[in-house]
Amino acid sequence: MECLRSKARTPLNGTGLIGKEPWWKAAVFYQVYPASFKDSSAEGWGDIPGLISELDYLADLGVDCVWLSPVFESPQADMGYDVSDYQAIYAPYGTVVDVDRLTAECHARDMKLILDLVVNHTSVEHAWFKESRSSKTSPKRDWYIWRPARYDSHGRRIPPTNWRGYFAGPTWTWDEDTQEYYLHLYAPDQPDLNWENDECREAIYNDTMRFWLDRGVDGFRIDTVNKYSKRTEYVDAPVTDPQSDSQPAPEMWCNGPRIHEFIREMNQKVLAPYNAVSVGELSNMASPHDVIPYVSASAKELDMVFEFSMIRLGTGGGFGPKYIYRPYTLSTFKETVKKFQTFIEGTDAWTTVFCENHDNGRAVSRFGDTSTPELWRASAKTLALWQITLTGTLFLYQGQEIGMVNMPSEWGIEEYKDVESRNFYQEAVDSGDEQRVRDTMHGLRILARDHSRIPFQWDGGKKNAGFSEGDRTWMRVHDGFGEINAMKQRGDQGSVLEFWKRALRLRKRFKDLFVHGRFTALEEGDEKRFVYLKESTTESGGNRRALVVMNWSKEVQKCVDVKKSLGCEGADEVRLLFSTTDRGPKMVGGEHEAALRPWEGRVYVNFEAGDI
Ligand code: NOJ
Repeated sequence: MECLRSKARTPLNGTGLIGKEPWWKAAVFYQVYPASFKDSSAEGWGDIPGLISELDYLADLGVDCVWLSPVFESPQADMGYDVSDYQAIYAPYGTVVDVDRLTAECHARDMKLILDLVVNHTSVEHAWFKESRSSKTSPKRDWYIWRPARYDSHGRRIPPTNWRGYFAGPTWTWDEDTQEYYLHLYAPDQPDLNWENDECREAIYNDTMRFWLDRGVDGFRIDTVNKYSKRTEYVDAPVTDPQSDSQPAPEMWCNGPRIHEFIREMNQKVLAPYNAVSVGELSNMASPHDVIPYVSASAKELDMVFEFSMIRLGTGGGFGPKYIYRPYTLSTFKETVKKFQTFIEGTDAWTTVFCENHDNGRAVSRFGDTSTPELWRASAKTLALWQITLTGTLFLYQGQEIGMVNMPSEWGIEEYKDVESRNFYQEAVDSGDEQRVRDTMHGLRILARDHSRIPFQWDGGKKNAGFSEGDRTWMRVHDGFGEINAMKQRGDQGSVLEFWKRALRLRKRFKDLFVHGRFTALEEGDEKRFVYLKESTTESGGNRRALVVMNWSKEVQKCVDVKKSLGCEGADEVRLLFSTTDRGPKMVGGEHEAALRPWEGRVYVNFEAGDI
């Protein structure tokens, strides 16, 4: 194998020249959960002016595109994922003019802005649903999914199917006035739109998408994108949980028969004409191969999707005991990462890299180690190193860059505000099974969506961590904000924040390897170390390689044979590009010490990198 000594020429990725790539492949996206980011009005609830005031912070971090979670008018049954007016802004967040200003302020900093498009369902308070439920003959009746009741052998009314929804309980709610059930995959407050109806689809394109694209936003994160097409026979799912009236049924309403047609239409009619970027939320995928049709460039559907196999590790499954924690091994974790790193090779599809969002616990609490401040810092940096060396478009979630952790384990259920957490907890209580209640609480402490939704920790010396000057905040501020906050980390070269900044710059500088490179897993069965190779091919046919070696444990581990893994002949051909330790590994006899400290990560390369 050849080791390049000189600076490589323009590198190639697996499928073509990087020079031709769209902007969003090497871009860093940053998700803002607006209720918890920054409050400018002392109401204890974040807002758009608050976000605007921190755009310089994001630009300095290296962010290229802000993804703003829903800010539209909403009763907030599911934190804005229940929209009652797509063209108005929920007053505590601000106004449409504030969003216009946000767009302009992002653009002024060379950043883009994408909004969250929630069009699988609306709120029950949306005018479309109010009209639809007003009578069976309403012109909008068919914009939602209405079905008559069934009756059991005792003559009791039962829902049209036995399907179970996401937030526990059935997917159907009875409407007394019109004597029919309506479908909702999530809360009863979130009725599903009927994408089979042509007028309804046109209204979605026009009133939600074009409205915002015309105002200058750059695209959308698309909520629940593979659930628009349901199986329209509306039949029962097989009984897999005999204890319950409702059954897991994703095969009935996910990846349905017309899903690709609907998404292609959305692309053709709206996304493509505006050159808008799209990243869809794609759940319940059986295999990576099923993901390809959604993100193959030639299929003209979506630019990117989020696939959740890795981030869902540890959960008890989406429709069963989701919050009964299920331990897993590092090799399973690595296997999942590998699957979603390699599945695009040899195709024209693309992938994403992320390990946090508003629907999951904090990564450093789940995958790293928060048992001591040293291990917290080391593991937060190693998780950063892992993320920035993976292929695909990188998405960061607010607070990840300062290593924010889960809510303290002493906090009780009253601090958990999320509809899903509360419903699963209540279901456990209602079962009368105390062990189940304890197990659910244990799972919630690791996995609940609430952990990522507590206020951003800006400043250890300020009221409410600098998130809000109000007397109360909508969720409790973490007790440890004095230790973990942005102010404390700014300018401290050993901090998680400064590490992320350097790491993001490095990712972009060597994007051939990190954003686009081919991924090869090494030491796959190792339960303590996470090791892989990234490779890219230059125009001249040369081969650049990066070896990522991470100690994924609190004990010292031996480093791998770096020369051998990189395919280099001599020690002088190997360069340490980057390391999570402040001064890099110690030198022993002209080489780096073989011992990897707890949660230490290193990146070695086979080429001269110049100053970094
Ligand atoms: C996925 C969103 O990320 C989640 O927060 C929400 O509850 C559901 N979709 C329903 O919109």
